Amino acid sequence: MFLKQTLLHPKESGAIAASSRRLADLMVREAQLADARVIVEVGPGTGVFTSAILEKKRPEAALHLIEINADFSKELSVRFPFLPIHTTSAEDIGPLLTQAGHDGCDRVISGLPWTAFENGLQERLLGALYEALHPGGVFVTFAYFPLQYLPNGQAFRHRLERRFAGVRMTDVVPNIPPAFVYVCTK
Ligand SMILES: C[S@@+](CC[C@H](N)C(=O)[O-])C[C@H]1O[C@@H](n2cnc3c(N)ncnc32)[C@H](O)[C@@H]1O
Repeated sequence: MFLKQTLLHPKESGAIAASSRRLADLMVREAQLADARVIVEVGPGTGVFTSAILEKKRPEAALHLIEINADFSKELSVRFPFLPIHTTSAEDIGPLLTQAGHDGCDRVISGLPWTAFENGLQERLLGALYEALHPGGVFVTFAYFPLQYLPNGQAFRHRLERRFAGVRMTDVVPNIPPAFVYVCTK
């Protein structure tokens, strides 16, 4: 499923395989879900992070998924029929949350392939996600090691540092390819 979608939409998928369970656990641990009331996952793909989020979030916390690829969305709605799944770009996060009755969110957990995005798209997407986060909210996203040294990877890191009050990188964990997490606090 993942390989097929990557061949069909290389610029959107930006990966050769779904993330590992080790990376999913790290993402969710760093997102500190214990006190989160509204959580948004963007770019869930086949739902590796979604399963880990469901294991750790408070039962009453809302979880919204935003996935641009209709085939992934269809698969997600079979796996997680009880979750709101929005088949659109993560750029629409603000209006989607408003429609759902939320004034923003406490956590954004991102599977988006930032280094595959050109500068304008990086800026628009990150701007929309940042605006949707409550002050003190946490944004987590991963990057493949060592692709963070490519120009798009560097541009993305600078964007994070310009916007967020705190930006931290974790150690690299086993994944295909190996990956680490940016933990950003608004
Ligand atoms: C690298 S894959 C990660 C999938 C999954 N989170 C994982 O780690 O296995 C990137 C995902 O982001 C989705 N995506 C790409 N651009 C998007 C956008 N603008 N809005 C929402 N989802 C997007 C892709 O369709 C794909 O599911």
